[in-house]
Amino acid sequence: MDSFHAHTSPFQLEGQFLGFISKSDGHFKSIRLAIGERELQVKLDKGLRHSGTFGLAAGDWISISGQQQFNSSFTKLKLKAYQVNRLSCNLSCKTSETLTNSAPSSTVSGSGRKKGKILLCNKSDCANHGGKELHQILEKTLGQLGLSDHVTIEKTSCQKRCSKAPNLILMPGKARHSKPNPKSIDNLIRDHYCNDNSCSS
Ligand code: FES
Repeated sequence: MDSFHAHTSPFQLEGQFLGFISKSDGHFKSIRLAIGERELQVKLDKGLRHSGTFGLAAGDWISISGQQQFNSSFTKLKLKAYQVNRLSCNLSCKTSETLTNSAPSSTVSGSGRKKGKILLCNKSDCANHGGKELHQILEKTLGQLGLSDHVTIEKTSCQKRCSKAPNLILMPGKARHSKPNPKSIDNLIRDHYCNDNSCSS
């Protein structure tokens, strides 16, 4: 078995944010970064995994710092992120921000509501197994949290998880959820689109 403990050193990378890889509970596990033509996946430290702490959109220019660990033969590398900074926004950002290494314009723990969309499966298995009610609850919750102008609901075709209907995906981040408990929707939305106290209570 490879040992990843002997060769550890800090790293800092800059590139374009592509998205997150989520765990089944909806929290982010890794972050996807494009550097030139190459894509890297960097595991997030536990403190960064709570999805509500992110306000990134695909295309944002970001820097990631953390620790890299090589195995004993230097043939495998693991990257773990301890800090993610947004350096500049993608084209959909309202304010243009200057790319700088020394003064990042915002960090993942910054405040503000996140823009995004909810992809709600509208095919019959989902629609007939709670999807319509889920749509109403989502709309109501977005309104209550003051997110109606930030987060849209988009109906989709089959998301290939029909046995777990109803299904939805929270964007950005592609966080997939199945059969969400109606009582958990408020927390689900807050976790994904609100930073700290940025949403109405
Ligand atoms: S019908 Fe919704 S996932 Fe297939």
